[in-house]
Amino acid sequence: MAQAASVLKPKVKDEEFDIGLKKAYRQQMAAALSDILADTYKLVIKSHIYHWNVVGPLFKPLHELTEEHYNTLFKATDIIAERIRALGHLAPAKLGEANQFAPTSASVNHTTAADMVADLIADHEAAVRRMREAGTKADENDDLVTTDMLTDRLTFHEKALWMLRAIVAA
Ligand SMILES: [Fe+2]
Repeated sequence: MAQAASVLKPKVKDEEFDIGLKKAYRQQMAAALSDILADTYKLVIKSHIYHWNVVGPLFKPLHELTEEHYNTLFKATDIIAERIRALGHLAPAKLGEANQFAPTSASVNHTTAADMVADLIADHEAAVRRMREAGTKADENDDLVTTDMLTDRLTFHEKALWMLRAIVAA
């Protein structure tokens, strides 16, 4: 029984396997993807909070756009976490690590719809910068799958940024 438990317990260490990606690279990319996962979760939560609390003339477009965004972002968390597993590492699992997914209350801005959009734009842009850096690194290391996934993620975030800007454009 004890033996079965130890077999079932996930190993925290990098797994040994040869898929043509260097061990050090896989470790580095798993860490980068964990940060990207945190960025994505943060945007899921913020998009949801603003979906609930937006008021004023922008209520309908922002309420609907944030719903599209948090649904897409939530699906993306699964894709990102599963890529970390495919690279041989555990997805962030400790409660302490999960803390980083939650925005602090100070970082949620409830004053106006325009402030909410500006806050979302800042977070999407930060996520885009980090994804671009990781995607470039993945490409340089012949990690086609991660490059492809991050290209897909960047496509979504850059389109989200366009739409958020269009909503508040004068
Ligand atoms: Fe809703």
